[in-house]
Amino acid sequence: MRTSPTTGRSLLSRAAAILAAAAAGAALITAPAHALDPLPGTLRGAAALSGRFAGLGATAEGLSTEYPQIAAREFSSITPGNEMKWGSLEPTRGNYNWGPADSMVAFAQQHRQEVHGHTLVWHHQLPYWVENTDFAPGELLDEMRRHITTTVGRYAGDIARWDVVNEPFNEDGSLRDSIFHREIGPDYIAEALRAAHAADPDAKLYINDYNVEGLNAKSDALYRLAGDLLDQGVPLHGVGLQSHLIVGQVPADMAQNMQRFVDLGLEVAVTELDVRIPLPADENELAQQAEDYAAVAAACMSVNGCVGVTVWGVSNCCSWIPDTFPGYGHAHLWDEDYQPTGAYYALLKALGGAGAPGGPGGPGGPDTPGSDCTVDYRVTSVWDQGAVVQVIVVPSEPLNGWAVEFTLAAGTRVAQYWNTDLALGQDGRVTARNLGWNGTVAANSPLDFGFVTDGNNPVPTSDILLNGIACSPA
Ligand code: G3I
Repeated sequence: MRTSPTTGRSLLSRAAAILAAAAAGAALITAPAHALDPLPGTLRGAAALSGRFAGLGATAEGLSTEYPQIAAREFSSITPGNEMKWGSLEPTRGNYNWGPADSMVAFAQQHRQEVHGHTLVWHHQLPYWVENTDFAPGELLDEMRRHITTTVGRYAGDIARWDVVNEPFNEDGSLRDSIFHREIGPDYIAEALRAAHAADPDAKLYINDYNVEGLNAKSDALYRLAGDLLDQGVPLHGVGLQSHLIVGQVPADMAQNMQRFVDLGLEVAVTELDVRIPLPADENELAQQAEDYAAVAAACMSVNGCVGVTVWGVSNCCSWIPDTFPGYGHAHLWDEDYQPTGAYYALLKALGGAGAPGGPGGPGGPDTPGSDCTVDYRVTSVWDQGAVVQVIVVPSEPLNGWAVEFTLAAGTRVAQYWNTDLALGQDGRVTARNLGWNGTVAANSPLDFGFVTDGNNPVPTSDILLNGIACSPA
């Protein structure tokens, strides 16, 4: 049992208050079951089971108008699709427009999501002035460093991972003839990484590219570059495999390719996954697409060091694909009406969640598993200024470490807690984690902890999550 660092009151004094309240005839209540209202499995919840993230390449407009609920519910990482590109941030030299990028960071923070910064140095979507200034020797290097320092510095502490350099390679593995390569030389990559690291030493710094998912000349070149940079002590932490794929063409050696980067000491992530289909898409192609999404997730899940999977866009209604690849489409997880597709359920299942409703592994399906967890949330006593709560969670799978999350009314304070290390955010979000001795829990065995609130709003206003998955009421 521990004393809350926020109140400093001893448990004994609170226990005395509880006993006094009970003796005075304070009413005892039990939380109403409807207060728990669990959500079904989500991509973020499934990914969290293995410590990975489920990410979304989104736009500021999408998060505010088109798909805020889907983005908040399904994803634990947000990548701004355009808003952090140099052309968006600094359209005229020295004048930054932070608004859309800031709004996306705020959205992510509000929904307990990481931000994957995209992207600092890329040959495309540059400000007009970068591509049309007659730079003096060394001037573009200075400008690149300044841009990185300004941008990474602004969001220092807010961004988990940065795509520092995007798409540096040609298909044959040679370095792309970008303005950076022309003006600065091949060292622009190391210089960019060093500048980013100086501005935010905690952010994981990535090189990100497409057509590097399997073993080929381009991924070989990326592998050699990564090894060379690490040998020179350049701060490189990860490699992003964009994964803009064509249906039926997931490289069979994707996991093997990921593993070699991990063996260098890097992490890898799938950073921009979509699977496009020649239109009109037929049933076979849709089934194949679902398998493809699952295969990419399976590759990531099989590699310790593949930290997450980000999909690039939400709905087939509003995709970047037809503009870039005319005749292709239907590449995303939600259809034109924002209904989840077969690919969504295949990805959910491959990440460790449930399958499609009525289908194998899904709710109501032939081999429906038990719910991931049940929760018995008991308010064991309430008095005018507080309440005692006991939480009993039963997982259907064995646990090696747990975090139970839910939200209490804003302003509620927790005076003491036991059998857990409990953190309470100002917004009322509670995260109760295991202690050293009670992190291992057998399948279908209870874990339990308790706490005392200051104030008598002890009933959660959200679902109760175990390691990111909503539990059903016991
Ligand atoms: O902002 C203008 C708007 O003012 C104008 O009216 C409109 C007319 O076309 O264009 C708007 O800009 C578009 C921009 O997206 C914002 O919507 C550009 O034309 C369009 O080319 C741009 O496309 C983006 C593309 O990168 C550019 O290459 C996509 O949204 C974005 O999803 C895509 O993302 C890239 C990753 O950054 C890197 N990997 C590949 C991936 C797909 O191309």
